[in-house]
Amino acid sequence: MERTSPPAPVTATAPPPLVSLDGVRKSFPLPDGAPLVAVNDVSLTLTAGTAVALTGPSGSGKSTLLHLVGAIEKADSGSIDVAGQRVTDLSGRALAAYRRSVGFVFQRFHLLPTLTALDNVMAPLIPFHTEFDKAARARELLAMVGLADRASALPSRLSGGQQQRVAIARALVNRPALLLADEPTGNLDSHTGTAIVDLLLGLRDEPGTTTLVIATHDAGIAARCDRAVQMRDGRLTSLD
Ligand SMILES: Nc1ncnc2c1ncn2[C@@H]1O[C@H](COP(=O)(O)OP(=O)(O)OP(=O)(O)O)[C@@H](O)[C@H]1O
Ligand SMILES: [Mg+2]
Repeated sequence: MERTSPPAPVTATAPPPLVSLDGVRKSFPLPDGAPLVAVNDVSLTLTAGTAVALTGPSGSGKSTLLHLVGAIEKADSGSIDVAGQRVTDLSGRALAAYRRSVGFVFQRFHLLPTLTALDNVMAPLIPFHTEFDKAARARELLAMVGLADRASALPSRLSGGQQQRVAIARALVNRPALLLADEPTGNLDSHTGTAIVDLLLGLRDEPGTTTLVIATHDAGIAARCDRAVQMRDGRLTSLD
C-alpha cells in the first residue's frame, strides 16, 4: 500500500494584535494626598481592522484609557504596544511621531475657534512636508463627512454635529491605522449620531485598515461594534 504523507496541519495564522495593553495603570494625585486610580491594571488586545466599543459608567476611566493609548497621558506602569512599537517606552521625537500617527476624536471637539473648518482639518499637517496636496486632502475629508459646502465656516457657525464631523475629518487627515474616538456622539441627536457612527464604522472598509476604539454610553453603538468591553472603577469588568 502506498504511503501518503499526512496533510500539512492547517494553522490559522491569526494576525498579530494591533494594540496590546498589559497591566496598565494610571492614577491622579488628589488634593487630600490619596491618589485616584483612574485606570487599574488593564490588559487588553485589539485585532487590526476591528471596531471596539469601550463602555462603562461616567468616571470609570474610558477617556483616561484612550488618552493612555494615544500617548496624550503617560501610564504609571504597565506596557502599551501599538503596531509593534512599545508606546510606553517612547520619548521625544518618536513619541511625537507616534501621537501624530493616531487619530483622536476628543470628547469635547477641541477645534481651534479662529480657524475655518478646512484649516482645522489641515492643522495637523501644516508643519510637515507631505507628498500630497494638504488642502485637497482636507477638502476630500470634509466632503466625506458631508461638509464640503462648509469648508470656510468657523466652528462657532457650525452645529455640534457639524463640529464633531470636522473633528473626525481632522482625526483622519494623517490616514491613521488607529482611531480613538471619545464619545463621538455624546450630545448629538440620534439621527446625527447614527450618521457619525455609520461614518466611523465605514472606515474599516477604507484602504489602509482602520482599527477603532469608541468610548460610548450608547448601547446601540456598542451593539454595532465588532466587540464591546466594559470598564468599572478603572478596571475592565467584561470582555467579549
Ligand atoms: N487630569 C485629571 N486629574 C485628576 N483626576 C482625573 C483627571 N482625569 C480624570 N480624572 C479622574 O479619573 C477618573 C476617570 O475619569 P475618565 O475621564 O477617564 O472617566 P470616563 O469613563 O471617561 O467618564 P465619562 O463617561 O464621564 O467621560 C474620574 O474619577 C476622574 O475624575
Ligand atoms: Mg470620558
